[in-house]
Amino acid sequence: MMAKKPLNIGMIGYGFMGRAHSNAWRKVGNFFDLEYQPVLKAVAARNKAKAEDFAARWGYESVVTDWKQLIARDDIDAVDICVPNDLHMEIAIAAAKAGKMVLCEKPLARTTKEGEKMVAAVEKAKVPNLVWYNYRYVPAVTLIKQIVASGKLGRIFHYRANFLQDWTINPDVPQGGAGTWRLDVEAAGSGVTGDLLAHCIDTAMWINGGISDLSAMTETFVKKRKHAETGKMAAVGIDDAAAVMCHFENGSLGLFESTRYARGHKALYTLEINGEKGSFIWNLHDLNRVSWFDHSVEGQLRGWSSILVTDGDHPYLGKWWVPGLTIGYEHSFVHAVADFIEGLSTGTPASPTFREALETTKVCDAIIKSGKTRKWVSVA
Ligand SMILES: NC(=O)c1ccc[n+]([C@@H]2O[C@H](COP(=O)([O-])OP(=O)(O)OC[C@H]3O[C@@H](n4cnc5c(N)ncnc54)[C@H](O)[C@@H]3O)[C@@H](O)[C@H]2O)c1
Repeated sequence: MMAKKPLNIGMIGYGFMGRAHSNAWRKVGNFFDLEYQPVLKAVAARNKAKAEDFAARWGYESVVTDWKQLIARDDIDAVDICVPNDLHMEIAIAAAKAGKMVLCEKPLARTTKEGEKMVAAVEKAKVPNLVWYNYRYVPAVTLIKQIVASGKLGRIFHYRANFLQDWTINPDVPQGGAGTWRLDVEAAGSGVTGDLLAHCIDTAMWINGGISDLSAMTETFVKKRKHAETGKMAAVGIDDAAAVMCHFENGSLGLFESTRYARGHKALYTLEINGEKGSFIWNLHDLNRVSWFDHSVEGQLRGWSSILVTDGDHPYLGKWWVPGLTIGYEHSFVHAVADFIEGLSTGTPASPTFREALETTKVCDAIIKSGKTRKWVSVA
């Protein structure tokens, strides 16, 4: 095996995504043949003891308690941003200015304005960049993208997607602070729109092209919640649920729904695309499968088929086990890392870049605006 060049990673944040990404950085070199080998150099987190625990568990060489120290270090090549959304812009711009590669969790930013500054910073610094819209990297979803791009579905008429959860129905769930920053509009930027629907929008535009205009209905079911930091009841500024209808630039119609009030649903992401010659359906709870309808099959045998996406010629699967053996949620992050590192060698960047992910932030802004004004909004 050829000696690999090191790629020194600086991780910021050690929560849910800090773990998902650390797992991906650690595993990727075992399964993918890449020119660079990620080295877990440092993790930045405010609580030293917890950061040290995290570093010991995941194999980071060192710990810093201020992300600015991490960015100032010469031995960091890539900064991985796994902190709440209100910190994305400041960290990403500082990292780009320091000449670091920047990988940022989604949504890129709280607003289009913030996102535009981030795009400008990484493009001015000419540093490789990626936003972690990881569902693009679920092989079954990648397969749908590839087959739609081949033209096999013909003209596309409909795209619909939902992302449903139920964890904020209890009005005693606080807003703000660790774990519940998603309910605080200052930290999150928006509610389900930036958190959940953003995934659906990113995948949709990747598969079916841009969205031109939309009409959205948003709702905040619980109007006041205790703020975890102040201990006081405060107005809730996020959207608890959003339903959107839109036009795609290719003339097809889109329908999206996202909520944290769908009792019984924990994280159900479903998508469906209907074309003249065929349709696909996928859902996150059966992520290795796609349902496929091929209208060209002769009449009596025509019907929905269920494809288990585990063959060696399916996207990314040749790198894992043998046909018939499934993979999981965490593998989507490994694939994102693999494509990112591959892109460093080939010069073709992994997607979505900051610029590509900004399009999703624009759609999210339009959803919030339409929800407030109850009017159709063009996506600028
Ligand atoms: N791609 C996905 O599917 C997905 C899933 C979950 C979250 N996310 C995104 O990932 C990001 C993080 O979400 P999460 O679920 O991991 O959150 P989390 O609450 O689990 O973790 C956030 C981490 O940020 C740290 N943090 C907060 N302020 C900090 C600061 N000033 N300096 C250093 N560390 C700080 C916290 O201590 C914690 O370790 C968010 O942008 C979120 O939208 C993406």
